[in-house]
Amino acid sequence: MPTSPRFLFAGNWKMNGSGAAGVALADALAARARAAPLRAEVLVCPPAVLLGSVKAVLDETPIGLGAQDCHAEPKGAHTGDISAEMLAEVGCRYVIVGHSERRAGHGERDADVRAKADAAHRAGLAVIVCLGESAGDRERGQTLAVVTRQFDRSLPIRIGADDTVIAYEPVWAVGSGRVPSSAEIEVVHGHLRNRLVERMGSAGEDVRMLYGGSVTPANSHELLRIGNVNGVLVGGASLVAADFWSIVETAP
Ligand code: PGA
Repeated sequence: MPTSPRFLFAGNWKMNGSGAAGVALADALAARARAAPLRAEVLVCPPAVLLGSVKAVLDETPIGLGAQDCHAEPKGAHTGDISAEMLAEVGCRYVIVGHSERRAGHGERDADVRAKADAAHRAGLAVIVCLGESAGDRERGQTLAVVTRQFDRSLPIRIGADDTVIAYEPVWAVGSGRVPSSAEIEVVHGHLRNRLVERMGSAGEDVRMLYGGSVTPANSHELLRIGNVNGVLVGGASLVAADFWSIVETAP
């Protein structure tokens, strides 16, 4: 692995976009990716039903495909769920697990997130594991305690720099327009880097850590220059091709 990890820009479309809108957005990104060589890794994570059509548009480009969640089992009686194997088959390279909207909206606990991450690895997918404190946690001075617990319990059993990415997303910053100060982000990312190195030795230096939560073209340049920030996970701003690409272009 390179000593300084390649920056990753991941767009999380969440539950947005019709088939036509998703293909149009992917088309617009594909055109930009073809226009000039990419200096960073770029990934889009559309809703599951759009994965196939978006993949077809992105096929001849370096933009990767990711999913937003997976089940921990490879198959079976799990109505409404999708296995990591299915995501791999449709062409995903990554899957997001443990997003705060799933932790809150679907009652996912750290152990569930770890089980999903391990399942993704077994299926050959890389994982983006999300963690982050709530507003209340931060007010109570519990930020580092919460992210440490999430780190210890929701990361996959085996972490590799090529198959595991951590996304620090303070819950209060997601979709709110509020972003922690650069100093606050640096403290959390530095803390997580130390935990990685404790767990993995020097290989922990190569695991990428994204910041996520209200990333925009206006703040990405500064965010990407914070120590131990190796990319961004972008929600709302990834739904507009020009905005997402402006963010990609702020890659250091
Ligand atoms: P946001 O979402 O950029 O809209 O805040 C980020 C995320 O939830 O991954």
